[in-house]
Amino acid sequence: MKWWQKTIVYELYPKSFKDTKGQGTGTIRGIIEKLDYLASLGVGAVWMTPVCRSPMVDNGYDIADYCSVDPSYGTMDDMKELIDEAKKRNIRIVIDLVFNHSSDQNEWFLESKKSKDNPKSDWYIWRDAKEDGSAPTNWRGIFGGSAWTWCEERGQYYLHTFASAQPDLNWANPEVRKALYDAANFWVDLGAGGFRIDAITYVKKPDVFVDGTPDGDDGMVSVHDMTANQPGILDYLHEFKREVSEGHDIFTVAEANGVKADELKYWVGKDGAFDMLFEFSHINLEFKGIETWCRPDPWKISDLKKALRDSQNATKDNGWYPAFFENHDKPRCVNHYFDENADKKMAAKAMGTLLMTLRGTPFLYQGQELGLENVAWPSIDCYNDISSFGQYEFALSEGFTAEQALACVHEFSRDSARTPMQWDDTPNAGFTCGTPWLPVHEDYREVNVMKQEQDETSVLSWFRTLAKLRAEYPVLAEGSYEEILADHEQIIAYIRKNEEDELCVLINLSNETAAYDPSLCEGKEVILNNAETYEKGSLAPLQCVILR
Ligand code: NOJ
Repeated sequence: MKWWQKTIVYELYPKSFKDTKGQGTGTIRGIIEKLDYLASLGVGAVWMTPVCRSPMVDNGYDIADYCSVDPSYGTMDDMKELIDEAKKRNIRIVIDLVFNHSSDQNEWFLESKKSKDNPKSDWYIWRDAKEDGSAPTNWRGIFGGSAWTWCEERGQYYLHTFASAQPDLNWANPEVRKALYDAANFWVDLGAGGFRIDAITYVKKPDVFVDGTPDGDDGMVSVHDMTANQPGILDYLHEFKREVSEGHDIFTVAEANGVKADELKYWVGKDGAFDMLFEFSHINLEFKGIETWCRPDPWKISDLKKALRDSQNATKDNGWYPAFFENHDKPRCVNHYFDENADKKMAAKAMGTLLMTLRGTPFLYQGQELGLENVAWPSIDCYNDISSFGQYEFALSEGFTAEQALACVHEFSRDSARTPMQWDDTPNAGFTCGTPWLPVHEDYREVNVMKQEQDETSVLSWFRTLAKLRAEYPVLAEGSYEEILADHEQIIAYIRKNEEDELCVLINLSNETAAYDPSLCEGKEVILNNAETYEKGSLAPLQCVILR
């Protein structure tokens, strides 16, 4: 097995992790300061969301220079020190590659937009207006509004899958691909331990651009439905593998939704372009198609079980599964998967246990180890997240009231996952001595690292126990996965097994007591339990146990 299959990855949101300058946003030196904390969680890799120079329209996912560090985070020397200091603690730094689009302030784009015949004129996706001067197609960008923006200087529209400040790069141009691979190799040479590759689904554009059937009252159709996972995309991705990742002891995990099961082997594994794929069916349970916050579908525990079953099966013999229940784009898992009545501490431990015991590499997201919860701010103006604004406007345009639109933002806003890390109970939770760029969650005096470190029943202590368990029982990384109680409507249960060992994980994902066949427990000892009692054949609401 490779090192990254046995480790725990921590996803870190640098802007909200630790500020050492009193500027209200996190710094690389802040991360260096907290490396021992990360090591205490058994983490072997830290994926940082982008820290390259950026106007921060989308908090770093709009890159102005791929081989740089944004001055707000520090310097390239800080970055080198981070990589070195992390290595001393057996932690590798994983870089986020944002290759579908750049910032509109990237020099490549500034050049490209000047004229139709400059040396970089073909580095982005330019099209003429329709005869009436309107956008070339009726595609809606993922953050809302048209996916096309008019550029006066050049007299053409450019395509942006996300915000207009994030123009899509033209991967059909080999010079563009080479420039991107060179940038990735810059980070390999600097000592990166791997890459998370952003929005890779969109890099190959369709051969012809046509209007789609509108899916909303705005007359537009989601750009995703018109451009995702186009035939031929794999040629590019395999080229990326040959030019960048192959031959290095690093891992790659690509954000790619909607890859068809019969194509998966070309995406991941021995013959695939990447080591792992982030797939979203278990986290987008309420969005069968595109993510429209004002129209969530109801879902049941059995849907979550099915999504996990499908991805465990898909990676059984090929590729490797990156387990995650939170990231910087999703609400906090204790709010997302459970209703207001659930005991959030039990829920955080149950989800943590699921994360750390599925077959695959666990990706633990900043603050999840404290059981952090969503924020629900009183007005849309309190929010910062560009997608929250788009979703809010879209809800209004679909006839929802302002109050209803805000309720959707409360439920799904990405800002809930981005509030500053809660280190202690001092002002601003010890994150900054300045004014935080995003308000700290109001519960920080009760919920913080300092307090949870002193409490052996805390969520943080639970995560540390889980990390120790993974070290103590290699079967959790190496063993096979076999689901049991597949039809149970409350419990998710599975056996992790190798030649030496066998563990049985039982998690009650519901808020009611759940019964199961007690013979499952015969001859087994309990090695982990988040409740005070243990009764064979019955789990309390949100109780999880591991039997050996
Ligand atoms: C996916 C990233 O996770 C998200 O934060 C970002 O806004 C989009 N890609 C665009 O880069």
